[in-house]
Amino acid sequence: AEGMLIIPILIDSCMWKEYKWISETQMLPRDGKCVAVNFMSHYNTVFLDVANRIKEFVEAGLKAEAETLETEWERPSDDLIDIDRLPSTGAKLFGRKDEIKLLDETWKDGEKNILSFVAWGGVGKSTLINKWLEYMDAENYRGAKRVYTWSFYSQGTSERVTSADAFVAHALEWFGDEDPKAGSPWDKGQRLAELIANEKTLLILDGMEPLQSGLDFEKGKIKDAALEVMLRGLAKKNLGLCVITTRLKVPEFDHEKYEDTVESVGLEMISKEAGRSLLRVEGVRGTDAELEGVVEAFGCHALAVNLLGVYLHGIEGHAAKHVAEIPDLPEVEVDDGKHPRRVIEAI
Ligand SMILES: Nc1ncnc2c1ncn2[C@@H]1O[C@H](COP(=O)(O)OP(=O)(O)OP(=O)(O)O)[C@@H](O)[C@H]1O
Ligand SMILES: [Mg+2]
Repeated sequence: AEGMLIIPILIDSCMWKEYKWISETQMLPRDGKCVAVNFMSHYNTVFLDVANRIKEFVEAGLKAEAETLETEWERPSDDLIDIDRLPSTGAKLFGRKDEIKLLDETWKDGEKNILSFVAWGGVGKSTLINKWLEYMDAENYRGAKRVYTWSFYSQGTSERVTSADAFVAHALEWFGDEDPKAGSPWDKGQRLAELIANEKTLLILDGMEPLQSGLDFEKGKIKDAALEVMLRGLAKKNLGLCVITTRLKVPEFDHEKYEDTVESVGLEMISKEAGRSLLRVEGVRGTDAELEGVVEAFGCHALAVNLLGVYLHGIEGHAAKHVAEIPDLPEVEVDDGKHPRRVIEAI
């Protein structure tokens, strides 16, 4: 059932691996040990862990309840919420507690104007945003007057988005501009920034990289004039928050005048526990310690771990130990994507 806590405890050796749901949950004691063999003389250490886990669970529930009672936000009417364009992602989010917290706090504080998440494809940017929007939705968007999302990433099509025209035209209209077609791209960007910034708007721009330069000497620079003007405007002044996900850092924001209002966060790394859960979901076999060892051996790199799940899944038995067969790439530096590249080569 939803919200139920199940804590499997291995009392004595048995063939627990035959039960898929058990191998996917974290059992106590850890690492395939059992009470009768490994903790006979001090079994309380195991049950203390159980008690602690229950306590954490109950406290988290109480806290969430207190927060929902506290947040009696008025929900914006449906025509002021437009969230249908984000790509669909998995229902579960592993790890990323820090990032969710950062989003929560940044929204609550209201000091920052733009928050961007930067990472390679497949690292989980859209998944994170979708999950956070779900939380926001459950709390009536926490005081937002308008919520608007756009995705520049044309998933599943070969056509590349090369301008922000479609976004600018749609957004101007949606935010109530009187004449969306009027003016130069520069004018449009400025008007749009003002419309967005003057109310407490949650604006989400997902997958912005097609509109950024891929050339080395200007990597990440925004190529579309209206979009650039709009973002510069929002960086300066914004009653709400603009959340961006992109594969490329935006160099325009690397300026001290934006120091207090724009924040950029890398998402390349995940915790080893989250990495372990990702591998488990792919059906990778091994003890917790083995799986966490694999995650660490690949630098806790989210994309590498995602790919490892696919790679190991494709090998009979799905055992974690097969990572030992993945050749090293001694000539590639970690900063140049050594971890995911090793897995890609192996695949
Ligand atoms: N922390 C996570 N928890 C659960 N699933 C994840 C996590 N990170 C990534 N995934 C899974 O990995 C896949 C890729 O994630 P996602 O689409 O969010 O990546 P992205 O960073 O937005 O990539 P792109 O730049 O291609 O848009 C998805 O199927 C998603 O479900
Ligand atoms: Mg994405």
